[in-house]
Amino acid sequence: MAAAGPGAAGTARVSSGRELGCVPEVAAALGAVARQGFDFLCAPLFHPRHRREFRLLPAKERPGPQTRSDLLLAGRDWNTLIVGKVSPWIRPDSPLEAVRRNSEAALQQELDFAAYLGVPAVLLALRGPHCPNLARGLCAHLQGAPGVAWSDPAPFPAQPLMDNLESQTYEVFEKDPIKYSQYQQAIYKCLLDRVPEEEKETNVQVVLVLGAGRGPLVNAALRAARMAQRRIRVFAVEKNPNAVVTLESWQYEEWGSQVAVLWGVSIPCSYTSFLAPLSSSKLYNEVRGCRERDRHPEAQFETPYVVRLHNFHQLAAPQPCFTFRHPKPDPSEDNSRYRMLSFPVGVTTALHGFAGYFETTLYGDVTLSIRPETHSPGMFSWFPIFFPLKVRLGADILDLQWRCRQGRRWCCRSGAVRHRRRFGTSGP
Ligand SMILES: C[S@@+](CC[C@H](N)C(=O)[O-])C[C@H]1O[C@@H](n2cnc3c(N)ncnc32)[C@H](O)[C@@H]1O
Repeated sequence: MAAAGPGAAGTARVSSGRELGCVPEVAAALGAVARQGFDFLCAPLFHPRHRREFRLLPAKERPGPQTRSDLLLAGRDWNTLIVGKVSPWIRPDSPLEAVRRNSEAALQQELDFAAYLGVPAVLLALRGPHCPNLARGLCAHLQGAPGVAWSDPAPFPAQPLMDNLESQTYEVFEKDPIKYSQYQQAIYKCLLDRVPEEEKETNVQVVLVLGAGRGPLVNAALRAARMAQRRIRVFAVEKNPNAVVTLESWQYEEWGSQVAVLWGVSIPCSYTSFLAPLSSSKLYNEVRGCRERDRHPEAQFETPYVVRLHNFHQLAAPQPCFTFRHPKPDPSEDNSRYRMLSFPVGVTTALHGFAGYFETTLYGDVTLSIRPETHSPGMFSWFPIFFPLKVRLGADILDLQWRCRQGRRWCCRSGAVRHRRRFGTSGP
């Protein structure tokens, strides 16, 4: 396999790599191909025979890491010396729906993992002249890829609550000389305080590491327990499936049953947004008055507002818009949503925007709601959201389209008139 790129002083340079079908020991294989004179190694991202069923049991819940740990190579080696090969069994253009859907999920998982490792290129085989679904999967992945990681002077490259961090970002954190030793010291002292000497064999303290990343705080806790001669059981909760591969490798190879790796339980476990068209001259005028000097004169209409709704006339009953569940009933489903809602409005009136409400199930039968019809009695800390429209609109029947994908767009139609709005933050 060969790749061309700029060499020293801008001259073209061809690098050649060795493609291997199966790489059980990635560090050893990399050393071997380097000794053979190759510039890089082309290795499978996942074991080529490890087919992953995203829908069917038992393979869907097979325990253990899904692939090798990123810790087997330094970040800069993944970045410069490895080309990741997509599993040969992946067929996103299969005419069989089950194969196609499973392949879509596997392709996404492998491309996500390649991005997490930071490999400079991915190799995949085309199965024929027409691969539209593969092309769509690749484009979707490229569109979803985070932008430039480090931008000086921004101190933090990404949003770990929202984005999944890359392996190299964790590697940078983990070089911190203070944080982990201070945590270790804190856990050590805490264990000594909580467990008296006479209970050290029987009292097992539970340590939860929430957002465990690649596990440095788990290791700090285990070291602290050894130093203190106290017993602990650690639960490592992490949402980034790529970092979970690293945690599961640690667990399988080092930690054993003393540590459990969890994907976490989300409370709430589901939520649904609701929308209702409304007329409110007061709100309209207040939004109009939010004009700011350095922004577009109508920019204030391009953002939603959290408001306590008082002076308004609701033109039709709220209707459900988007629902999200955790965990997803279908893991291959993404978080984009599209919805068209139609509101029958019996009068000709002015439409000034839409009220947004939500209902949520926290856990089991425990719920919260700010939808007027089901509002949780006495709850006052959550207000509706208001999506303004700039133009007053004589409306009889309203058609509303919603779309949410790394941002939200709203658009409404009444008769022949169409108005579009958008804003840039994502959310349900
Ligand atoms: C800044 S990193 C710290 C990682 C690790 N604890 C360390 O000290 O190196 C924060 C981690 O929290 C994870 N995280 C963020 N929100 C989470 C959630 N709701 N549930 C589980 N993990 C989450 C992120 O994926 C990320 O791995």
